[in-house]
Amino acid sequence: MLAVHEDREFLLSPGEEKGTDLGVLEVPADAEPGDVVETHLGEPFTLRALRGPDLFDHMDRTGAPMMPRDIGLVMGHTGVSRDDRVLDAGTGTGVLSVYMGRAGASVTTYETDPEFAEVARENVSMAGVADRVAVRTGDLTEHLDELAAGEGFDVLTLDTRDAPEVVARARDLLVPGGYVAVYTPFVEGTREAALAAHEAGLREVETLETIQRRMDFDDRGSRPSTAGVGHTGYLTFARRGPHA
Ligand SMILES: C[S@@+](CC[C@H](N)C(=O)[O-])C[C@H]1O[C@@H](n2cnc3c(N)ncnc32)[C@H](O)[C@@H]1O
Repeated sequence: MLAVHEDREFLLSPGEEKGTDLGVLEVPADAEPGDVVETHLGEPFTLRALRGPDLFDHMDRTGAPMMPRDIGLVMGHTGVSRDDRVLDAGTGTGVLSVYMGRAGASVTTYETDPEFAEVARENVSMAGVADRVAVRTGDLTEHLDELAAGEGFDVLTLDTRDAPEVVARARDLLVPGGYVAVYTPFVEGTREAALAAHEAGLREVETLETIQRRMDFDDRGSRPSTAGVGHTGYLTFARRGPHA
């Protein structure tokens, strides 16, 4: 949970102790969200349950985690929800998997780098979804045959350079009507993903660029912020048809 004091916040598990500039903070093992805990110097911290954006801000990072705005698009466009079976790669920090796990989906996620996978497992555990998010160390492209022989996935989420290889097998991996979502940071990879989806015979192939503009409100008026472009990447969605 988060221990919050005005502009400071620290991530702590129940039973954990942390030295802060406001004194030593000890969170009791039976602490609940809403409890107020004082440091040994008497500074009060309010405990708060973690939510998705808190996890994004505080998770240990191993690479480029997907931004909440892109995660929102993935979840909105694929409708990931409770009891869905999701196949994901690469895990990275695990933030996308964690969001989907928190929505109730069962996620199997592959990460080639063993150290990244270990950090992701810790993040998944901190997020409280270890029972729903399984982090497997390995290259997803080497496991496609065994995965395709299973009962099928409702959603496939890909954030790797070799995503087109997996998209090519999407019809074998997805249940009828299931979705694939591919995140790509560059136009070249995006085009490859979209072409792979068409070649694989998927339907409703659609690519979107995610741009977000912050609004500024001041005495002179209101307008989108002039700072920054707000581009993060591209998302390509496609869907398996109703039949095999
Ligand atoms: C951009 S990061 C993924 C970020 C992740 N979506 C998140 O939300 O944190 C890409 C990750 O994919 C891993 N990777 C690349 N190719 C892979 C593959 N074929 N199978 C599994 N993992 C792979 C990389 O090691 C890297 O950690």
